[in-house]
Amino acid sequence: MDFHLTREQELVRQMMHDFTENEVKPIAAETDKTSTYPRENIEKLFDLGVMGMIVPEEFGGAGADDLSSAIAIEELSKQCASTGDILATHNGLCCGPIIANGTPAQKEKYLRMLTEGHKVGAFALTEPDAGSDAAKGTCVAELQGDHYVLNGSKIFITNGYVADVFVVFAMTDKSKGTKGISAFIVESSFPGFSVGKHEEKLGLHGSPTAEIVFTDCIVPKENLLGAEGKGFKIAMQTLDGGRIGIAAQALGIAEGAMEESINFAKTREQFGRPIAKFQNTQFLFADMHVAIEAARLLTYKAAVAKSEGGRFTLDAATAKLFASEAAMKITTKAVQVHGGYGYTKDYPVERMMRDAKITEIYEGTSEIQRVVISGNILGK
Ligand code: CAA
Repeated sequence: MDFHLTREQELVRQMMHDFTENEVKPIAAETDKTSTYPRENIEKLFDLGVMGMIVPEEFGGAGADDLSSAIAIEELSKQCASTGDILATHNGLCCGPIIANGTPAQKEKYLRMLTEGHKVGAFALTEPDAGSDAAKGTCVAELQGDHYVLNGSKIFITNGYVADVFVVFAMTDKSKGTKGISAFIVESSFPGFSVGKHEEKLGLHGSPTAEIVFTDCIVPKENLLGAEGKGFKIAMQTLDGGRIGIAAQALGIAEGAMEESINFAKTREQFGRPIAKFQNTQFLFADMHVAIEAARLLTYKAAVAKSEGGRFTLDAATAKLFASEAAMKITTKAVQVHGGYGYTKDYPVERMMRDAKITEIYEGTSEIQRVVISGNILGK
């Protein structure tokens, strides 16, 4: 594996660094405080070609590779994990499965909407009684003539109340278990689609999370994504890719928290010297550095493995597990370095700690990553 970034990847890094410093950092605290969807920045990310960057150029995207996409999420998440999350969901969880499984007509219509059309995408798998056990969903889709009729509800849907295009999973044949699940492309304008509860969360306040409800929702037959019964496989393959995005988000949060802590420790004086002069603080930073380097290598390795083709399930789960747990530890220590200040909203590390927590939960909890990792190394 070549650890040097290509010229294109370096350019993405620089562009996203500048965008984050100039546009994201100045509003990150307010976005969190007011739980506001950062609409203007998302529009700018569409203008820059970042929303939908992995979409092939023939369908309106930038044709970027998976490492570039991870770098974009990482850079945004250094200052605002919510913005990183909106991008990760749009690219990995909505554009991703359409790129991989869409018909030429679906790609032409929906990928163009999700790039040039500035329409935001989402992914609807989780249900009230089907979280980690994703196959146990009860949302149903019944074929009636030239359309499917969807009934049921989905919860915790990222981009839920702002998205226009959803990749939705529903049972088309309950008797077939995972092979009875199908995937659909659903527009928020379809009859019978509605948005339910908006979630109030511990962190990621700028990322719009909501319940989605289907009440005799009419979905044209041509919006079936992949063949009937292939939905569970599509969901799992999509999550393999999505988990690299969450690893990148966790990595960015950890990097942001470490940078804040170093700046603070160099200027905060106690007992007559900056706290960075105490070995206790120095060792903390050494440990943070090691964890961040390891998280970055695992995340980039998984991204490269995805672009190379073939199965990358193990790489993605490994990166997501390590990076998310590293982010939680590092942000918690970052608050500790800041002492009482770290517990206030005058410093960003308390927000980073709250934001880091979700990376251990969504797109498969740490426990599920351990199930996936052990299953892959031991066999079933
Ligand atoms: N790639 C391709 N196929 C896969 C796969 C993968 N990564 N993982 C499983 N499959 C296939 C299996 O090969 C199997 O196919 P066959 O029957 O043809 O052999 C089929 O899927 C069923 O596999 P399992 O028996 O392993 O399935 P399971 O029911 O035991 O579940 C699981 C496995 C790993 C626990 C899975 O349910 C899982 O990942 N759960 C976590 C769900 C999750 O991550 N949810 C996140 C929701 S989305 C979100 O958070 C985003 C948001 O917007 C907030």
